[in-house]
Amino acid sequence: PANAQWGGRFAGGPSAIMQEINASIGFDQVLWRQDLRGSKAHARMLARAGILSGTDETAIRDGLDAIGAEIEAGTFVFETALEDIHMNIEARLSERIGEAGKRLHTARSRNDQVATDFRLWVRDAIDALDRQVASLMLSLAIRAAEHAADPMPGFTHLQTAQPVTFGHHLLAYVEMLSRDRGRLADTRRRLNECPLGSAALAGTSFPIDRALTASLLDFDRPTQNSLDAVSDRDFALEYLSALSIMAVHLSRLAEEIVTWCSAPFGFIRLSDAFTTGSSIMPQKRNPDAAELTRAKTGRIVGALMGLLTVMKGLPLAYAKDMQEDKEPVFQATDASALCLAATEGMVRDLVARTDRMRALAGSGYSTATDLADWLVRVLRLPFRTAHHVTGRLVGRAEARGVELAELSLEEMQAEEPGITAEVFAVLTVDASVASRTSEGGTAPDNVARQASAWIGRLQHP
Ligand code: ARG
Repeated sequence: PANAQWGGRFAGGPSAIMQEINASIGFDQVLWRQDLRGSKAHARMLARAGILSGTDETAIRDGLDAIGAEIEAGTFVFETALEDIHMNIEARLSERIGEAGKRLHTARSRNDQVATDFRLWVRDAIDALDRQVASLMLSLAIRAAEHAADPMPGFTHLQTAQPVTFGHHLLAYVEMLSRDRGRLADTRRRLNECPLGSAALAGTSFPIDRALTASLLDFDRPTQNSLDAVSDRDFALEYLSALSIMAVHLSRLAEEIVTWCSAPFGFIRLSDAFTTGSSIMPQKRNPDAAELTRAKTGRIVGALMGLLTVMKGLPLAYAKDMQEDKEPVFQATDASALCLAATEGMVRDLVARTDRMRALAGSGYSTATDLADWLVRVLRLPFRTAHHVTGRLVGRAEARGVELAELSLEEMQAEEPGITAEVFAVLTVDASVASRTSEGGTAPDNVARQASAWIGRLQHP
């Protein structure tokens, strides 16, 4: 049989394959809340504009609420033949309330309807993810405050560079996540315009009130070009871009967690709740949550690449290609929410092995820069000369298999006669981190101040 919603000019129905390739109900049913909300706003506007009677509007509103209850109760039957969530709900509405239900689609097309629903969905997703990011940032800041003065090796090229504090390292991620929130907020600001009323592509001849629909749906304003409104998905691309960058941040922390909890590093211990065992090796505690957070970046970035490719070269206005916009967005949202939750769980539970980090922070000639800086400050050597002298001292220490602080004063003076015993004071890990008081530096006082500033901001936004 021909489709009940659009079958007027068709004699026969679509083939099974046509239905299968066309249907989106399998995934777009998650839009049901947004679809009901959008339809109620549209009906209210139609009634206010005198296009629909008050009685019809009431019937539509009550009918849509009843459908919402059916979906919530799991009794609603989603039909593949009805393609998508929009037509499933509209068909059910007509089934329940008759003629009034058939009037709902006046001055509307599925093209502006789906663009509106999808914006509403992404907006809700941004709000939920934003709360999760803020919560992860707070957990990181709390752990940073706790470890503001605990030294760890700082790396460049993954080679020991200079000591930093563990708190400082954790706060680096708080900064990154804060920019991720900023990107999500920007996306939300730009997407917050209402496409409804653009109809199929050209607008409508009915005397609609687009400002009213927009405000009923908490949009800032109606979109200003009907072709653009039904045919762009840049809001979804921006959202996926923001999620991709955030996923890259989370993957870096995940990678560090994997490294830190390995036996050769031994910086942290993860909790039983966020590790798994091995089926053969009894000693194993595997950081699977961190590994999967690292890996899910692939599907999130993949979602962005997929949708960019779908949109590229599409002529205006709507094309069915755009139905492929939803799964990447839904999947990337689920993956992001899961990664944020897993990361927060690991961060909250992890036990920092501060003795181990402190010991390693002092190895590998990590305070060589402090020695060079001392030569500049106290002996007034040019930095390049000080660098060279220090390099020779590191060479001596390495040849003897000792750390810089284990060289005798005589050995030091053999390279630079001006060196005095005071130099040993700058070679400790604590002196090194305490001296990094420049703005944004790793000095424990800086870190403690920044951690508490973040905690304050996140607890009382
Ligand atoms: N399910 C469709 C989508 O997600 C709804 C819009 C259909 N519009 C159309 N002209 N066939 O894009």
